Amino acid sequence: MIMESKTLCCAGWILMLMFILPTAFCCDRCLHKSKVSYTSSSQPVNAGACGYESLAGTLNSGDVATASAKIYREGVGCGGCYQIRCTDPAICSKSGVKVVVSDLTQNNQTDFVLSTRTFSKMAQPTKSSQLIKMGLVDTEYKRIPCEYPGKNMTVKIDKMSNYPYFLAVQFLYQGGQTDITGVEVAQVGTSNWKFMTRNYGAVWSMQQPPEGPMSLRVLVTSGYDGFWVWAKTAVLPSNWKVGSVYDSGVQIKEIAQEGCSPCDSQDWYLLQ
Ligand SMILES: *[C@@H]1O[C@H](CO)[C@@H](O)[C@H](O)[C@H]1NC(C)=O
Ligand SMILES: *[C@@H]1O[C@H](CO)[C@@H](O)[C@H](O)[C@H]1NC(C)=O
Repeated sequence: MIMESKTLCCAGWILMLMFILPTAFCCDRCLHKSKVSYTSSSQPVNAGACGYESLAGTLNSGDVATASAKIYREGVGCGGCYQIRCTDPAICSKSGVKVVVSDLTQNNQTDFVLSTRTFSKMAQPTKSSQLIKMGLVDTEYKRIPCEYPGKNMTVKIDKMSNYPYFLAVQFLYQGGQTDITGVEVAQVGTSNWKFMTRNYGAVWSMQQPPEGPMSLRVLVTSGYDGFWVWAKTAVLPSNWKVGSVYDSGVQIKEIAQEGCSPCDSQDWYLLQ
């Protein structure tokens, strides 16, 4: 993996501003207050606006979340990880639950809608039925790095692909705390990079993909800067197949800072 630039978000001008605005603009653990609810249907988390389909069940042991438009960000937020805690100290655990964004909710009262199982993980061991009864609970959440120990980011050939004319891919097990904002592919051994565009959710597509084995690079960013993560070897074989999942050979580990104003607070209400 080669990074062209590691500088994210807090570029020089922000350093200057920090003397004026000490409580920042830039924080990697911005805490937000919100409400969270659950749905007993597993359909939204499996179908999902991000396009992960049934693979959502394999991400993070199935602890995936349907997120509001401001977190989903027209698909940019897909695959992002969040730690969510409910705030009633009599019922809620201090660690809450860690989720991966896999869908968009139309519900305008909450930032996340969880499955019943994931929602109940916010409770203390014996309090989950009490929490479930509450339905809609006050929470605080923050973005956290995604961790997939021992796994590289993988590339799945999306079902809308039509070999060899139309290539659509989605990324799974996207580590770190960054957003994927660009994807390019090139025939291995050439530097003729061709860009893909976000089709919807986590799905990127292009007409007339390069022939032969393809390498791939992904632009990851957050805030004000970005860098390319390069897969150095072939990621997609020349006979790529719809539905197949290929190892990218790279993993994103970087934590990008959020340009986070407004930030409700940078500290947990109870935790840490
Ligand atoms: C929130 O959703 C409800 C029901 O869908 C709708 O009636 C209401 O106008 C919405 N409120 C906002 C602020 O969008
Ligand atoms: C991740 O990619 C590296 C090559 O960069 C490879 O050696 C390794 O086996 C891959 N890991 C997994 C779990 O596939």
